[in-house]
Amino acid sequence: MATDLSMYLRRLPKAELHLHLEGAISPETLVELSERRIARPGAAKLPVLTLDEARALYRYTDFSGFLLAFKAITEQLHSAEDYELASLRMLERLHAQGVVHAEVYVSVGVVYYWRRTSFEPLFAGMERARIAAEQQWGITCFWIFDAVRHFGPEEAARVFRKAAEMRHEFPSIIGIGIGGDERRTGAEPFRELYEEARAAGLRLTAHAGETVGPGGIWGAINIGAERIGHALTAIEDADLMAVLAERQIPLEICITSNVRTASCASLAEHPVRSYFDAGLMVTINSDDPALFGSDLEDEYRLAAQQFDFTREQLRELASNSLEASFLPPERKVAWLQALEQVV
Ligand code: HPA
Ligand code: ZN
Repeated sequence: MATDLSMYLRRLPKAELHLHLEGAISPETLVELSERRIARPGAAKLPVLTLDEARALYRYTDFSGFLLAFKAITEQLHSAEDYELASLRMLERLHAQGVVHAEVYVSVGVVYYWRRTSFEPLFAGMERARIAAEQQWGITCFWIFDAVRHFGPEEAARVFRKAAEMRHEFPSIIGIGIGGDERRTGAEPFRELYEEARAAGLRLTAHAGETVGPGGIWGAINIGAERIGHALTAIEDADLMAVLAERQIPLEICITSNVRTASCASLAEHPVRSYFDAGLMVTINSDDPALFGSDLEDEYRLAAQQFDFTREQLRELASNSLEASFLPPERKVAWLQALEQVV
């Protein structure tokens, strides 16, 4: 039975700002995709995946293993139909948690680098799902094209320029980002590409300070990132904390992700409470729910139960998520007013 807290969390209109489409796919859905593929005339005849085989893809023990698991899941996606079903399931689950708007990373960088295939046909499936979800459930969704930083700037350029080109036809492509392994590639090599993307009208995000120290976050800010994914190590640098507070740079905090990838040694050591108390612009997100076994509602519940966020503070987190979204101002105002009505 749903608890009072769960009901309250579900009622809060929220935005999910750090969620990877591929990391939202459950092993069960991967199996279903492989079965549907077999039944579809003309589709690639790949072997049907058993549930055990699918589940095996989700195992990892550290951050590098996590990145490999993420790649293995992405490699299971072959067609527009696969991307469509994955997107539809993701949006259905978000809607069930009271998420009214999502800004979703799609790893175009992985598709380009490992598959050497064009992205437009796959994107058509995502768009079909996005439109269907908005019609059925009222949830809105923007896409963020994510490059893999350790593949280098040339690969990232392909991803960002494709986003710039496609957004004319598909305004749902709102921005770009870099994920992957910061220990191998920092933010600086992407400076010019970020400038180019901004000039093309794209919004800028970056994973930063997840597996490296505060220098990684300074780097992301310095190349113009408007939102920081993770920002786990900002706590180590008082000057950075002051800048993040003063500029109210939104942080896409992903608590369970950080513990599960061993980026953070334990839940007790996670800085989310310190960030909030220091006046930083904290948002709560799930990152890769199928890989971490925790969805957005779980993350808010964790904030309440592990980090003592009161109901009013949970409302503030939801408010931050809407405020920090890339929605137009009038849509933000409408959702923020709806949020105020929740009791
Ligand atoms: N960090 C880095 N790379 C990723 C992530 C992440 O949170 N999720 C998927 N790829
Ligand atoms: Zn992420």
